[in-house]
Amino acid sequence: MSGLIPHTLKTYLTKKRIGDRIELLAGKLTDRYTGLEDETVFLCVLKGAFIFSADLVRNIPLNIPLEFCTARSYGDSMNSDGNVSLSLPPKRVLREKNVVILEDIIDTGCTLAVLKDKLKELGASRVEICSLLSKPSRRKAKVEIDYLGFEVPDLFFVGFGLDYAENYRNLDHLAVVIPSKKNS
Ligand code: IMP
Ligand code: MG
Repeated sequence: MSGLIPHTLKTYLTKKRIGDRIELLAGKLTDRYTGLEDETVFLCVLKGAFIFSADLVRNIPLNIPLEFCTARSYGDSMNSDGNVSLSLPPKRVLREKNVVILEDIIDTGCTLAVLKDKLKELGASRVEICSLLSKPSRRKAKVEIDYLGFEVPDLFFVGFGLDYAENYRNLDHLAVVIPSKKNS
C-alpha cells in the first residue's frame, strides 16, 4: 500500500444493512420498470459501482440489459482532480432508452452531471440515477438522485466497491478511512 497516508479503517455500514437497503431499492426499480424492459438499460459506472450493481440487479427479476461505462474523476488520492473522463457504450445501445445509472457514491456531483448530459446527447430518452451513497455536503454540481441507498457525512469511505488508491474494493461492508495522528 505504498503512497497511502498511514490510516486505520472503521466499519460504517455492515453487509447486512447494505443488503437490506439494496433489496428495497431493487423493489422500487422493479415496480418502476416492469413493462418497460425493452426500452430500459442499466448502466454500471466502473469501477466503484461493480459490487452494488451486481447485488442490485440480482434482486430485480426483470429482463433488463446491464451495460458498463467508466468514469474517472479521482487520481490516487482522496481528492477529486476535477476532471471527468468517460468511456461509454455505443450510441445504438443508449438511443431512445431509459438509462438507469448505477453509481457507488455521489460526492461533488461533477461525474454524474457530465455523464447525464452525455447520455442525453447520445439520445437516451430518460436518465435516472441510482446511487448507493451520497455526500450532499460536498456537492458542487446539482444532481437529482432518483434512488438513494444512504446519505453519508464528509468522510472518505472504502469497501463494497469503493477504493482508496485501488485498495479495499473487496471489503464486504463499508468502512471509513481514519488518518493516523502524527507522532503517535
Ligand atoms: P464526484 O464527481 O465528486 O461526485 O465523484 C464521484 C466519484 O468519486 C465516485 O464515483 C467515486 O469513485 C469517487 N469518490 C467520492 N467519494 C469517495 C469516497 O468516499 N471513497 C471512495 N471514492 C470516492
Ligand atoms: Mg464511482
